[in-house]
Amino acid sequence: MKDILTASSILADFFFDFCTKRGQLMTDLLEKLGLLGMVPVVKIDRSEDAVELGRALMAGGLPCAEITFRTEAAEEAIRRISSSLPEIIVGAGTVLSADQADRAVSAGAQFIVSPGFNQKVVDWCLQNEIPVTPGVVTPTEIDMALDRGLKILKFFPAEAMGGIATLKAISAPYRGVKFIPTGGINQRNLADYLAQPSVHCCGGSWLVEANLISAGRFDEITRLTKDAVSVVRLVRR
Ligand code: 3PG
Repeated sequence: MKDILTASSILADFFFDFCTKRGQLMTDLLEKLGLLGMVPVVKIDRSEDAVELGRALMAGGLPCAEITFRTEAAEEAIRRISSSLPEIIVGAGTVLSADQADRAVSAGAQFIVSPGFNQKVVDWCLQNEIPVTPGVVTPTEIDMALDRGLKILKFFPAEAMGGIATLKAISAPYRGVKFIPTGGINQRNLADYLAQPSVHCCGGSWLVEANLISAGRFDEITRLTKDAVSVVRLVRR
């Protein structure tokens, strides 16, 4: 009997450690995004451009990308970046269903972003221990996220929903929650958002606009990325 109790306690410890480590890995990845300060939100039309885009972001000092499922090329673009450029943290954005989340993760996505609080997407990610940042814009949605243990949330669409004033108001009651404002962020307002204590990092598409990618203007993407990175460094030094 004593042996059985010892064995089951070892098993329980192992299971606890395993869950803690998996949970920690999810937190670690989102923490890395926080340290980078900026997540480029990509809409890519041709997956053939994905690796070049990844290289341009890395040359600009930003080894991460959120590839949105707004185009047919997203899944293959994620696959190409994750297999050719493993140093890049690649995630999937505009994920609207559990099936899309599944396809994105199978292609190599390391994190999932949804524009709203999509319960099916969130629950699929939690079940599969994939970091997820659902979009929120109201206290009710923040409560729903907290109920599931999520404390790093996308604030979307940031500018259209009142920008920093709204962010300050909704973050006041939720001290432990960090936000990733996205939607209308650009080189001009990036510093103001990053200076907010509730901001984890910012998301934005201005440095990786679809027309720059399709025109092959990767040098320009690197230049815009460097500019954004210098703002992050200035605000966070
Ligand atoms: C998103 O998909 O998260 C947003 O559309 C990005 O917003 P932006 O294009 O205004 O940066």
